[in-house]
Amino acid sequence: MMDERMEVTSKPRFDIQRKKPKILLAACGCVAAVKLELLCHCLLQWAEVRAVVTQSASHFIHRLEISKDVTIFYDEHEWCSWNRTGNTMLQFELPNWADVMVIAPLSANTLAKIAGGICDNLVTCMVRTWDCSKPIFVAPSMNTSMWKNPLTEEHCNCIKELGITVIPPSSGNSASGVYEIGAMAEPSFISYTVLKSIREEN
Ligand SMILES: Cc1cc2nc3c(=O)[nH]c(=O)nc-3n(C[C@H](O)[C@H](O)[C@H](O)COP(=O)(O)O)c2cc1C
Repeated sequence: MMDERMEVTSKPRFDIQRKKPKILLAACGCVAAVKLELLCHCLLQWAEVRAVVTQSASHFIHRLEISKDVTIFYDEHEWCSWNRTGNTMLQFELPNWADVMVIAPLSANTLAKIAGGICDNLVTCMVRTWDCSKPIFVAPSMNTSMWKNPLTEEHCNCIKELGITVIPPSSGNSASGVYEIGAMAEPSFISYTVLKSIREEN
């Protein structure tokens, strides 16, 4: 009998030559969230983008710097848009709209929540309502000690088993010669990785 997963992935999901893929971009409360504008710029070259930011991420983001082509959603939107039974909810609407989810930067906190199945804000609820036949990419971002903590490896392994692609963080020697690892991959590399994966699948 054919494996259900194989059957799903063997069909092209969308025709990238004819239609831009729809990307749901989520940002967490990491310093690297300041690069959201650059990441949106890279993704907009080949995709439609909607963004969701966590409450912590909103401290790092300047709305006016982000392209007007990107609608940004916060936790408050979820509650403001709902007023009676039967209303659609953003945690379903946005994942239904999207072809791909990209969480960049991914904080240690949200990584742990995803691994544990917790859904207490718009970003983590979207992960729980996501149709698992569609891809999710995450780009963790944290300092070296957080990245090297064994919990990080455990949580990354757990989400990889769920089919989530982890885009490795950057590493190298700092100006003072200390080896550091954990900073978010460059926005252009994240964009390239997602596009390459979509092309290979189609
Ligand atoms: C200035 C500042 C910078 C932070 N940078 C990071 C970071 O790079 N990576 C990380 O995992 N957490 C970082 N944190 C901690 C997160 O913001 C915190 O764990 C928060 O609860 C994450 O919430 P979220 O996962 O809902 O976005 C930082 C906190 C502060 C105050």
